[in-house]
Amino acid sequence: MRMKILAIETSCDETAVCIMEAEGDFGPDFRFNILGNALYSQVEAHAPYGGVFPNLAKREHERNLVPLLVSALERAGMVRKGRNPAHPELGNILSRERELLAALLPFIEEYEKPDVDAIAVTAGPGLEPALWVGVNFARALASVWNLPVVPVNHMEGHVLLSMVAGDRLAKFEFPALALLISGGHTELVLSKEFGSYELIGATRDDAVGEAFDKVARMLGLPYPGGAALSTLAHEARETGAAPRFTFPRPMLNQDNFDFSFAGLKTEVRKHIPKDDAEPEETRREIARGFEDAVTEVLVRKTLAAAERFGANTIVVGGGVSANRRIREELRSAIGRAGNPAKLLIPPPEYATDNAIMIAIAGYFRARRGMYADPASLRASGNLPLAPHA
Ligand code: KG4
Ligand code: ZN
Repeated sequence: MRMKILAIETSCDETAVCIMEAEGDFGPDFRFNILGNALYSQVEAHAPYGGVFPNLAKREHERNLVPLLVSALERAGMVRKGRNPAHPELGNILSRERELLAALLPFIEEYEKPDVDAIAVTAGPGLEPALWVGVNFARALASVWNLPVVPVNHMEGHVLLSMVAGDRLAKFEFPALALLISGGHTELVLSKEFGSYELIGATRDDAVGEAFDKVARMLGLPYPGGAALSTLAHEARETGAAPRFTFPRPMLNQDNFDFSFAGLKTEVRKHIPKDDAEPEETRREIARGFEDAVTEVLVRKTLAAAERFGANTIVVGGGVSANRRIREELRSAIGRAGNPAKLLIPPPEYATDNAIMIAIAGYFRARRGMYADPASLRASGNLPLAPHA
């Protein structure tokens, strides 16, 4: 059974829409094809605030969704123009998204229903005002086009997108241990089969991406500075000099799989030069020291959890999985430990938020008939992927 899914992602500061065609259940028969993919990153809008500003994210999603939908439909060759009746009742569904409503009403009158079977939308976790825009957009389209809606957990999307290779699933075996690292999350999750997740450990304070961004800001880098900080750290290592700073490795020697990065950030702050005359080398070395500390904690805890739970596969997902140091150290640590687990890391362009991950998760759930009643569909900022083990 082939299915076409229209997927919508608005959990944070990326607005994304994609149309995917797929067949086969979770296993070797699964094949997918992205027919149209459109994404707008709001990073520049939020940069002056030094973080994602929820109400600004909401407004940007409202502005971007209809143009992104049109562009995904165009790329998929699914645009058919027509003259359809007006749908004033959408004002109820989009009563808190007036700007989106203003763009959607003329779109609905002008464009015919595309050839898709279901709508998948991120229901959480994320910023609630941002999530609601996507959820209500999905509800509005579902009502006009008479399509079922499948709610998707954003973190499951990251896990599943890390499990694909090319147009199918990578070859791997459960149990799979997922290290999910993003601006909002730092979690170790164990999965024994598709759709079942157990939370093994999580951050007690800052998420790792958040810590990267805050330290980057201390170093004077524009938001979100995670990737730029990593570039500085890389430059420091390239000089061949010995590391100048050794920051603490929080919770490394505790017998659990939880993380904490707030204290590390405070420790780093003490060393930030107050004086602009300080050589650039100091900032590079701080970046390196911070990245090394974070990497060692993530890598050692992940390996320990993989051993404890007999993971055959280690999956890394979320924006921070684009980090070169973490990728390299994880790979070499698995080799050194003689751990037979297979490592699945998405290509960097798949690491950050997008709608493809939502389409894939939505597809497997749609196949299982896991639809929601659009009337009672809710956005949930803290939507858990898994109860704590
Ligand atoms: O998954 P994502 O796109 O959005 C969230 O759901 O948070 O992750 C974004 C986070 C940001 O904190 C960003 O600084 C971080 O991922 N990030 C990086 C790198 N690339 C993105 N952090 C460290 N090194 C990188 N190369
Ligand atoms: Zn994410």
